[in-house]
Amino acid sequence: MGETFQAPRGFHDILGSDLKKFRKITSTVRDLLRRYNFEEIITPVVEFAKVFERSIGEATDIVGKEMFVFPDRKGRLLALRPEGTAGVVRAYIQNKLYALRPYHKLFYEGPMFRYERPQTGRYRQFHQIGAEVFGIADPHADAELLKLVSDILSELNIEAVLEINSLGCKVCRPAYREALLEFLQGVAPNLCKDCIDRKERNPLRVLDCKVQTCQEAVREAPKMVDFLCDDCRKHYEKLKEYLKALEVPFRENYNLVRGLDYYTRTVFEAVSPKLGSAIIAGGRYDYLVEEFGGPPTPALGFAVGVERLMLLVEEPQRDYELFFVIPFGEVHAYALKVADTLRKKGKVVEFSYRRGGLKKQLEFADKIRADYAVIIGEDELKEGVVTLKDMRTGEQKKVKPEEI
Ligand code: HAM
Repeated sequence: MGETFQAPRGFHDILGSDLKKFRKITSTVRDLLRRYNFEEIITPVVEFAKVFERSIGEATDIVGKEMFVFPDRKGRLLALRPEGTAGVVRAYIQNKLYALRPYHKLFYEGPMFRYERPQTGRYRQFHQIGAEVFGIADPHADAELLKLVSDILSELNIEAVLEINSLGCKVCRPAYREALLEFLQGVAPNLCKDCIDRKERNPLRVLDCKVQTCQEAVREAPKMVDFLCDDCRKHYEKLKEYLKALEVPFRENYNLVRGLDYYTRTVFEAVSPKLGSAIIAGGRYDYLVEEFGGPPTPALGFAVGVERLMLLVEEPQRDYELFFVIPFGEVHAYALKVADTLRKKGKVVEFSYRRGGLKKQLEFADKIRADYAVIIGEDELKEGVVTLKDMRTGEQKKVKPEEI
């Protein structure tokens, strides 16, 4: 026996029933994106590592310890993309999309890579479908995007709570940061080692820490919403008003900060009570395009975690009938033509490659869940017909192939 191989830890094959769920999710989300008139973009899986460092932030877990980084032959650092937003922003600027139209609505689908500790719903290669809107500051864009998230959940019949928060802007965040830092100094003895380190570099990150003692320590922390400047407050209030008008249920979570640094104002997560984690997440990033060398362009978006949704959706029913063609005797040329006729009519046909008696063949037809067996022997050949057997009722009759 030769050497055997396993996929690396956190990397998975997707097949069978899982793949059906995968396709059901991507086609449902794509169909909704089409109805909201989003246009697709495909960006590379690899970018310069800087693209992610500058956008997601050096002090985040994603950049600090989860990126797959490697040098190219000239020693330049490349990274497998850990998320889609940074690459789409890079592409938006590089292709000067801002010069074409005042705003753009783009979506993407594909694999993302994060060197995380694998567990259920958390993998090192996973798939996202993401949507990004460029050029609109008004909260009606935020509301529409959240309505799209809620449409995705209801079309897929998934229960989740939509949590929202506002993280303010350049005007109001600094004062909040100060207040939060002061609060965190006071509760420092109760914080985990990471958070003691984090609080100086990026105090908001502490609000997001999953360690229980940290979560308890920040329960009474000052809230960003109490520090919002007039513009940010109005933006947030309008968003909530629009969500109510659209009948999108939501819950405010004052500690929601997200694991990436580019966000401003609106942030949100659809959290599954069953998984206890976010399944769709996103928010606004009004400064990122400018920080990447583009013109000032407000922007916002979200990403769907396909593998997380796979844990929550049901396997779709087959939406076609399967015909199983069984030749007996020297009838293969005719039987192959029958299969061809059926396929030309749009039917899904499996041709039996096996030999064996009728009983065995019909057992196999059951095994592959065929709806009809198309039995062809020498009599059928002579008469130019087939014997069509309904596998559910057992009923059978002779018919002309073109009449099926
Ligand atoms: P994120 O919260 O890092 O945001 O990821 C979005 C979703 O991807 C998560 O809610 C989760 O469902 C899924 N996900 C993340 N990490 C993993 C993993 N290791 N295994 C399986 N699924 C995972 C972003 O990526 C932002 N780019 C979203 C965004 C778009 N914000 C604005 N525009």
